[in-house]
Amino acid sequence: MVKQTTAGISNGYLLTGIPGLDKMMDHGIPVGSAILIEGGPGSGKTLLCLQTGVNLCQVGKKVLYMSFEEREDRLRDHMHQFGFDPTEFEKNGLLLIKRFNALDIARSVEALLSEAKKELLIDVQPVLIPTEFTPDFVLIDSLTSISSAFSGEKYRFRIYMEQLFRYLESHNITSFLIRESANPTHIGKGSGSDNEEAVSFLSDGIIAIYNVLYENGTRGRAMEIFKLRGENFDRKVVEYLIEGGKGVTINPDTVITGKYQLT
Ligand SMILES: Nc1ncnc2c1ncn2[C@@H]1O[C@H](COP(=O)(O)OP(=O)(O)OP(=O)(O)O)[C@@H](O)[C@H]1O
Ligand SMILES: [Mg+2]
Repeated sequence: MVKQTTAGISNGYLLTGIPGLDKMMDHGIPVGSAILIEGGPGSGKTLLCLQTGVNLCQVGKKVLYMSFEEREDRLRDHMHQFGFDPTEFEKNGLLLIKRFNALDIARSVEALLSEAKKELLIDVQPVLIPTEFTPDFVLIDSLTSISSAFSGEKYRFRIYMEQLFRYLESHNITSFLIRESANPTHIGKGSGSDNEEAVSFLSDGIIAIYNVLYENGTRGRAMEIFKLRGENFDRKVVEYLIEGGKGVTINPDTVITGKYQLT
């Protein structure tokens, strides 16, 4: 298992710098992988991604944070609350926080499709990834928002996802793609529709974060690595803590026990 505790990209693997998480993998996350970060509302998906992003900026890696939900200034506030200051990284060009309108994307895809009628030739780059910035790591918050903008047009969403995954892979960009799951039994399947399942198959890994309800009425959080293509990793559901000023702590040796429900 990984011994190093700092974030980085070397020998074809990415380390998040979240010690507990890195220790659960033999080598780290293969560079160029697309990892789904799944979990219920408020479980800590955005925070896990932000923390990884900040850790990578600290070692000089370029990070693109694509938000389809909150405005840039709200995201900066969010980061401050957890004790991260994005200002310096943004100033020296390591961090780009960018908000996108998912409806604009859905409309562009529709226009491209009807114009070309050659779905497979669509290039997502002009639609999505800013051309002037070449990131090592991309966070997408969230696929759920993109999916809802394609309401009723699941086929287009699927084409768009295929293009996006292909783009990230061909540029060797490691990505964390957040997906909200309404129910822990949906982890790895999306909301159950065929198109969302396609996203699970396209992804190289899945990290699940759970809201835990214990029998005594208290709540906690837990996480597991659900899938990591081609790699060996610890298969267990372990404690996931969020602390103000400190952010995420994952305790890989603390498997959740007792009577509980994952919600
Ligand atoms: N200062 C703090 N100290 C401890 N916990 C905090 C603090 N600030 C926020 N939190 C917790 O962190 C959680 C937010 O985590 P995060 O925004 O990463 O969740 P998420 O899964 O992305 O949520 P959403 O579904 O809203 O996108 C909140 O639910 C809150 O309980
Ligand atoms: Mg979030």
